Amino acid sequence: MKLRLTKLAIFLAALVPLERLAWKALHDGLGANPIEVITHSTGDWTLILILTTLAITPLRRITRQYWLIGLRRMIGLFAFFYGTLHFLTYIWLDKFFDIHEMLKDIAKRPFITVGFSAFVLMIPLALTSTAWSIRRLGGKNWQRLHRLIYLTGILAVIHYAWLVKADLRKPIEYGVVLGILLAYRVGVWAWEKASERRQQQAIPSAEKLV
Ligand code: HEM
Repeated sequence: MKLRLTKLAIFLAALVPLERLAWKALHDGLGANPIEVITHSTGDWTLILILTTLAITPLRRITRQYWLIGLRRMIGLFAFFYGTLHFLTYIWLDKFFDIHEMLKDIAKRPFITVGFSAFVLMIPLALTSTAWSIRRLGGKNWQRLHRLIYLTGILAVIHYAWLVKADLRKPIEYGVVLGILLAYRVGVWAWEKASERRQQQAIPSAEKLV
């Protein structure tokens, strides 16, 4: 029940940025450069939702609220949804599917290739987000594949840091949050390896006693 209600609340909350854009679009509220506003809003929300997805595991472990794992898939899929809108805004509204224009732009603004790579890496994650995929791939392989989200996060922050001209504050803030979330995982991994080693060392001495 708690999970269902929280899921519903998050589902509705995650649609708010899209509703706000739609409301502004319908009421002439997107300003002089609507494409820029849509690109920035969808880009921001993609990154925020990627970081939120990455925050679930540390949050559930630290707070011992293990049910939180039930939210991760939905938040991750919303990250992909906003990433798709962001990408579509670029290729459709900004470049009208004009490949030559896009290639020219990519040559001039290499941060687009980095953003594109971040987005492409999200595709296999979205496609294998079902319980059926976990069963088919096997838990270990599925986990390995889904570690791509770390690379997506890193590329997304580079994409942002590269595109801003002067004020690096926001990309740095996102970078710090990502750094903490990745450092947590490295810490847990190192701790688990160390305790595995301790256990292996303990076994021979236990054998000697027999
Ligand atoms: C995981 C994928 C991606 C993330 C997280 C992401 C994130 C962002 C962020 C945070 C911004 C800046 C928003 C702001 O200024 O407030 C941005 C801007 C932008 N992104 Fe992305 N992006 C991604 C993929 C892409 C892709 C695939 C493309 C195009 C092929 C793209 C093209 C752009 C462009 C053109 C801008 C605006 C640049 C400017 O203002 O000069 N992004 N993106």
